[in-house]
Amino acid sequence: MVKIAPSILSADFAKLGEEILDVERGGADFIHVDVMDGHFVPNITIGSLIVDAIRPVTRLPLDVHLMIEHPDRYIEAFAKAGADYITVHVEACTHLHRTIQLIKSFGVNAGVVLNPATPASLIQPIIEDIDMVLLMTVNPGFGGQKFIASVLPKIAEVKAMADKYNPKLEIEIDGGVNEETAKLCIEQGATVLVAGSAIYNQKDRHAAIQRIRGN
Ligand code: DX5
Ligand code: ZN
Repeated sequence: MVKIAPSILSADFAKLGEEILDVERGGADFIHVDVMDGHFVPNITIGSLIVDAIRPVTRLPLDVHLMIEHPDRYIEAFAKAGADYITVHVEACTHLHRTIQLIKSFGVNAGVVLNPATPASLIQPIIEDIDMVLLMTVNPGFGGQKFIASVLPKIAEVKAMADKYNPKLEIEIDGGVNEETAKLCIEQGATVLVAGSAIYNQKDRHAAIQRIRGN
């Protein structure tokens, strides 16, 4: 069954703890944390301080998506704050293997993120070393954007690579996921779906999660 990772970017930050518990009770599998620096993407969100604050609130794995330049400088802080997964953009990493090894040196699961226009082939040299590939289906920076359907074949491409070289690889999709687009992603081989607005803009988060999962 596909896993669901609600993105707290669309949560009410004035009551973040409750918002996280609400999706945990609603059947979420991961909590997706969007870290933006105002350089790699045109928005600023949260830092390791918030990861540290929410760590004791939930038993779910914290899936930390770094949309930042120079990720190496901040990986230790996010690892120590309690991240279970740290994903870095290939577009932001000059020495990708070094960055992935750094994440793993803290015992944290490591993942690589590709923007919509970045080809799947870029993960080939590193696919056996990582735990997750995150494919963006919007250009990162904001919640609530429209799903870019032309990324769909890339999901199938990564799935074929994973079957061959790393069958345990999680294939996560992020951006514009709702109950309709979720179905398309699952068909292509997605194993984890991030959803921000499609979950947090709904009153009944349990029902929203079920619909995205296809139940
Ligand atoms: C986009 C973020 C996403 C975002 C998804 O830059 O990486 O995780 O929160 O939001 P929705 O599901 O609303 O597109
Ligand atoms: Zn994200």
